[in-house]
Amino acid sequence: AATRRHEWEVSYQFKSPDCVRKLSATINGQTPGPAIHATQGDTVEVKVRNSLLTENLAIHWHGIRQIGTPWADGTEGVTQCPILPGDTFTYAFVVDRPGTYMYHAHYGMQRSAGLYGVIVVAAAPGGTEPFAYDDEHDVLLNDWWHNSTYELAAGLASVPMVWVGEPHSLLINGRGKFNCSAAVPGTCNATSPECATPVFAVVPGKTYRFRIASVTSLSALNFEIEGHEMTVVEADGHYVKPFVVKNLNIYSGETYSVLIKADQDPNRNYWLASNVVSREPATPTGTAILSYNGDRASPATTPPTGPAWNDTMYRFRQSVATVAHPAHVEPPPPRADRTILLLNTQNKIDGRIKWALNGVSFTLPHTPYLVAMKRGLLGTFDQRPPPETYAHQGYDVYSPPPNPNATVSDGLYRLQFGSVVDVVLQNANMLAPNKSETHPWHLHGHDFWVLGYGIGRFDPTVHPASYNLKDPILKNTVAVHPYGWTALRFKADNPGVWAFHCHIEAHFFMGMGVVFEEGIHRVANLPPEIMGCGETKGGH
Ligand code: C2O
Ligand code: CU
Repeated sequence: AATRRHEWEVSYQFKSPDCVRKLSATINGQTPGPAIHATQGDTVEVKVRNSLLTENLAIHWHGIRQIGTPWADGTEGVTQCPILPGDTFTYAFVVDRPGTYMYHAHYGMQRSAGLYGVIVVAAAPGGTEPFAYDDEHDVLLNDWWHNSTYELAAGLASVPMVWVGEPHSLLINGRGKFNCSAAVPGTCNATSPECATPVFAVVPGKTYRFRIASVTSLSALNFEIEGHEMTVVEADGHYVKPFVVKNLNIYSGETYSVLIKADQDPNRNYWLASNVVSREPATPTGTAILSYNGDRASPATTPPTGPAWNDTMYRFRQSVATVAHPAHVEPPPPRADRTILLLNTQNKIDGRIKWALNGVSFTLPHTPYLVAMKRGLLGTFDQRPPPETYAHQGYDVYSPPPNPNATVSDGLYRLQFGSVVDVVLQNANMLAPNKSETHPWHLHGHDFWVLGYGIGRFDPTVHPASYNLKDPILKNTVAVHPYGWTALRFKADNPGVWAFHCHIEAHFFMGMGVVFEEGIHRVANLPPEIMGCGETKGGH
């Protein structure tokens, strides 16, 4: 196995990803940042220099479990102190499984400034994948605001709250096209090479693997390639029992691989299209070009507009269809040692709108949990564990929360090392009537089995009987559909402290997350570089 070394300088630069100039967070001058390519078993080493001048930084390697290196997870407040302006921090970790992953900033709402990229881990030599293709392309999907990250975050924390609103553009591989006539005069240049429509070249007759990752801050997306069906073969680094779709729903934090065959009329080009689903769209379709001709010619057709944005069952069916490939089933443990039932609600605290789980809205502590727990600094966070469940009997998930008040806490769940944990995420109505959103939940440090989905209220005496224990897919991010529930199972066998949160950046910022600790005493000596904040000032 090799060590793949990277040196990154993170700085703000003026970029025009959708033709409108914006101060963007770049890696070595680029947004998206460079793709990381490695082979299963390699060590990836990234030396990050924070040249943001006035902003802290942390970078998370999303989908990499960090077995034995919990301090390299890049989760500010959970696994490390932030990298201060002018400082350098080296992340080093093993990529132990092939697949498609991503990295992104994990400090405040910095991801939305453009700090992200893909991680592609090839199968080890001799390792086989259950499908074949001639060549591959990476597709990184994102949503984009012209407002600065500060503006977006400060708005959410204001009274009354200023919501981030719908994105101005949808980007594919960091490029989009805003209509310059709607932009502030002098800020938009429709012919800037920075917003040239991306082109994906194909050769007629060949089969391509498209590795698709969504790092959106808010939007659930639907991705379509005009005139080409897609066969879904990978999800979050796990092989899927292949199924064919006309278009793919993808939530923030998810990755998929699809196969497409370049078998259409080769005398023209085709659109790649990214459309908002699950929220009423106010953002134009994001586009790119599938080029048979080897040119950049835009197709004369209209780009696909995707399925109806509010067709929940269309998306639900894709979730249910995503199961493990028959030759790659990793059976889940037959039962759980503990079940945590988490009601997702919107709440009001001190006049601010927040998100809460079982009435508790999450806030990050000043001293990272990993350091605090390893060193017994237990005064640094709330020692009361958050609630295991909520009063589910008789709770009406179709009505706004009867009690909109919630508390704020930085308490965490301590899991028995090696135990099997079920988490059931229960969605519900928001504060406003007749509204429930999709929440993509992401777990750090693990993959979980997706045991089941439902719409309506989860009943612990009924629904577990319908769990898929035969061939559930392993994932690290999963959707909780409007008014629905999603049941997961994982093994608490990775020593460390791990965030579990909604991947909508604004929702996590508003408290939509929890933290798990397991096997803290098995964690090796912590590198002093992760310290320096809160109670760890002065290092070791
Ligand atoms: Cu991709 Cu905690 O996030
Ligand atoms: Cu959410």
